[in-house]
Amino acid sequence: MQGGAVSTAKQKTLGVVGCAVGGLEGLRRGLVQPAITQGWQVAVTLTPTAGRWLRESGEAARLEALTKFPVRDEPRLPTEGRPHPPVDCFILAPASANTIAKLALGIMDNQALTQVGEALGTLDTPVIIFPRVNAAHARHPRWQGHLDALRESGACLIYGPEVWPLYEPREASPKRELPWAAALTAANAAVS
Ligand SMILES: Cc1cc2nc3c(=O)[nH]c(=O)nc-3n(C[C@H](O)[C@H](O)[C@H](O)COP(=O)(O)O)c2cc1C
Repeated sequence: MQGGAVSTAKQKTLGVVGCAVGGLEGLRRGLVQPAITQGWQVAVTLTPTAGRWLRESGEAARLEALTKFPVRDEPRLPTEGRPHPPVDCFILAPASANTIAKLALGIMDNQALTQVGEALGTLDTPVIIFPRVNAAHARHPRWQGHLDALRESGACLIYGPEVWPLYEPREASPKRELPWAAALTAANAAVS
């Protein structure tokens, strides 16, 4: 599927970027469908591992049918056109500890990191991030520094005990709902 649509003044484009973490399978129901219902055009990009997960489960195809854009999980060739329209706001959710660390350092070695990394440095492109991590990830000696760096760059973090209490690995319920609504509320506020 090839896109080619452009963002209009009437309809804003939300770039949704997902990582390979628990709860990723709820991306369509929890975030993409509600965003479309609220008037957004949505273009989805995944890390390579997240792309493998959602292609295997059939969710990538369902996302493409819903958004009318290809789900991107690899960079385009220089000879290919851009398959997504320009993005007005990014939501990086769910974000892995791995992608948070790379993003904070400016590493852009996949399509998901390239898009969000560039947006962090682009004036007027808001970036909302939900780090889907556990207490062990958060005790990594560089974790707080990564969060500080992302906040200093202007990103809005959906993070803290009120939205995502941290549990030890494998202690939280695997059915725990991710704070999709909080991320979408932040995106709506950022572009209003
Ligand atoms: C079933 C499963 C669940 C995972 N859940 C998480 C998670 O909640 N948070 C996290 O940071 N990593 C989690 N991981 C580890 C990431 O998948 C791993 O660090 C991967 O390299 C992340 O790649 P990405 O950042 O490119 O998506 C999980 C791995 C598996 C197999």
